[in-house]
Amino acid sequence: MAKRGLHLSKLTQSSVWKSLQKRLQPFDGLHMRSLFATDPDRFERFSAEACGIFLDYSKNLIDGETMDLLFTLAAQADVEGWRASMFAGERINTTENRPVLHTALRRETDKPLVIDDDDVMPGVASVLAQMREFSDAVRDGSWTGATGKRITDVVNVGIGGSNLGPRMLDKALRPYADTALRLHFVSSAGGGMIGGVLAEAPWESTLFLISSKTFTTEETILNARTARDWLVQQSGGEDALSHHFLAITANKTKATDFGIPAENVFELWDWVGGRYSLWSSVGLSAALAIGMDRFEELLAGARAMDEHFQSAPLQENLPVILAMLGVWYINFFNAKAHAIIPYDHRLSRFPAYLQQVDMESNGKAVDRDGQATDYDTAPVIWGKPGTDCQHSIFQKLHQGTDFLSADFLAAAEPHTPVGDHHKVLLANFLAQTEALMMGNTEDDVRADLESRGASVEETAALLPHKLFLGNRPTNTLLFKRLDPFTMGALIALYEHKVFVQGVVWNINSFDQWGVELGKNLADKMLGDLDNDGPAHLHDASTNGLINRLKEFRRCRGIR
Ligand code: F6P
Repeated sequence: MAKRGLHLSKLTQSSVWKSLQKRLQPFDGLHMRSLFATDPDRFERFSAEACGIFLDYSKNLIDGETMDLLFTLAAQADVEGWRASMFAGERINTTENRPVLHTALRRETDKPLVIDDDDVMPGVASVLAQMREFSDAVRDGSWTGATGKRITDVVNVGIGGSNLGPRMLDKALRPYADTALRLHFVSSAGGGMIGGVLAEAPWESTLFLISSKTFTTEETILNARTARDWLVQQSGGEDALSHHFLAITANKTKATDFGIPAENVFELWDWVGGRYSLWSSVGLSAALAIGMDRFEELLAGARAMDEHFQSAPLQENLPVILAMLGVWYINFFNAKAHAIIPYDHRLSRFPAYLQQVDMESNGKAVDRDGQATDYDTAPVIWGKPGTDCQHSIFQKLHQGTDFLSADFLAAAEPHTPVGDHHKVLLANFLAQTEALMMGNTEDDVRADLESRGASVEETAALLPHKLFLGNRPTNTLLFKRLDPFTMGALIALYEHKVFVQGVVWNINSFDQWGVELGKNLADKMLGDLDNDGPAHLHDASTNGLINRLKEFRRCRGIR
């Protein structure tokens, strides 16, 4: 943690911040039950809708005055100005001196966007056309492996933003996918992932997408080399590479040096951050699976959310509302975590995807001016799909000691209608947010126990355990169906939420220096693991661990 509290920021010294601190007082001891009881319009007042996504945020510890102050805070942080700067391609990623233009990837391609005298849109259009041509060719069988076999398996080799988005989409959009194509994702340095895929993949019909903006990420290059060696060995030479290897990168030279022909390279630009890149050719695995028309529906959904974000007043703006509720809890209720609970197993990878979007963007303790923040920033993002998570993490949500907030997401219509399953799923979905908000009362528990014939002593003993305090805040996001358009809108909603929070916290949400140190040390560590002698260059703990590991490896006969 950066040293906190030495510098008093403009943010925490602002009168609106101080007013929000005072707004905590009315909520002390106040239960949301009474907020609902005294305001019959609460649901209408605290709900909003855009791009097919309905947001109910009435089950929060808020009232009209609090929301007004939160919107004032957003306005004073100049969310609208920063938003305009981002969409216009100004260099708001100051530590890397880059524009932040993932929104250009889903912009209408005939609308120019000039950055440094250069219209970026023809480049975007050309890569989209390349994606269409390639995905059509794979899907209709005209692109084949080196021996003429139709492609059956696609392996995305990439990590972080070059993995989490496409991997999440693979599951989310599977009902729209061509089942003849199997997608695999290889990310970690551990050999188990690539080894597992190579053990099963038929080389003649397998395509490798080497997805790395920099084409220098250690894990990706390690896995790509292993895959390349495997293919060369299986096929008997390097000629097969042009049929089986593609690169998605902003570093064409490195990709061609690696052995991937220039015409197999899909361009990326430095103005696309890794965690915001699924809209680019980083999404190629999704385009291959669902086809380019569907992929463009995904882009259209994100574009619709971009338009909503840019045009809706702050008070009706979905990303702004979600962002400011987060600020309310993180900075005023001292919340440390926020859960994402989709009631859809197709969204099971959505929390993991949002972890990078949120925590890599805003997990920072230094503001844009290099000052340590005197306020908290990104929460821990966690979560799992319902109803499974009701049987694992929900005990803590309902009765744990931490202040936790959560987003609940569900579609009204399932992709796979099976009897009453979806209705049961939705009943659970609704019941949980109601229970989290309402809780129960001592009278409820007592009546329940008595109706079960419990004695006075048993009732007294069990009562504290069966009491749910409730008053736990949730947002509910409803949509008709998890189609590509809705998925696009949903992802963009969270991207912009994170952006708004970054603006309020005065941090650069678009760099990620925090991941560098560990990477650099890992390079050095490799040398230490190779050395025969005992480690002595590190702290006592790390030296001790290196030596113990070497000993374990020696025992197993591994060098
Ligand atoms: O984890 C750091 C990071 O730079 C992420 O931001 C990025 O998504 C990931 O590594 C992968 O980077 P690349 O696409 O350059 O391989």
